[in-house]
Amino acid sequence: MGEQVNILGFAGSLRQGSYNRALLRATLELVPNSTKLEVFELNGIPVFNGDLESSPPEKVKEFKRKIKAADALLIVTPEYNYSVPGVLKNAIDWASRPYGDNSFEGKPVAMMSASTGMLGGARAQYHLRQSFVFLNMYPVNRPEVFVSFASEKFDDKGRLLDEKTKDLIRELLSNLVAWARRLKTA
Ligand SMILES: Cc1cc2nc3c(=O)[nH]c(=O)nc-3n(C[C@H](O)[C@H](O)[C@H](O)COP(=O)(O)O)c2cc1C
Repeated sequence: MGEQVNILGFAGSLRQGSYNRALLRATLELVPNSTKLEVFELNGIPVFNGDLESSPPEKVKEFKRKIKAADALLIVTPEYNYSVPGVLKNAIDWASRPYGDNSFEGKPVAMMSASTGMLGGARAQYHLRQSFVFLNMYPVNRPEVFVSFASEKFDDKGRLLDEKTKDLIRELLSNLVAWARRLKTA
């Protein structure tokens, strides 16, 4: 046990029936003891405009506040054209600015992806990992949670059916919490 670890999760899709948002919702039921997961929805974040980075829109301010307050982050990404969707990249770009006020600085982070394809969004995750370098974030390396053939893994209400995926998510969260605790005392 130990002090509560607060995780902020967000998914890079705005779609009502999004598998990635459904994956994040399913994760709410799999959090370990002494852990709180809050979901932040990215809808309403406008397209990034560098002229506004010092006085960003309210939704961006709220996003930045919540990221800074969180002990760890969980990012769930679809794969678009072998990379992360603009929705996610745009939100990350806003929250990383202005220079000197990067909300992600030093944050432990875990990621997951769901795709209708056979690689489950692996390529998007590796692109996201690349951004973590510049953002100075500390990603958990294992397990890698790639939900392939997503349309077969959820029911028509968006409930996750696949027990193996649930086990992997539990393991990922447990590693993220341990990692966040380790970094806090480092
Ligand atoms: C613009 C676009 C590009 C896509 N590119 C990929 C891709 O490169 N790899 C992949 O596995 N799936 C790709 N897909 C399919 C997505 O995995 C699928 O639409 C998935 O359901 C999107 O995530 P969501 O359900 O959370 O919205 C693409 C979908 C769209 C709309």
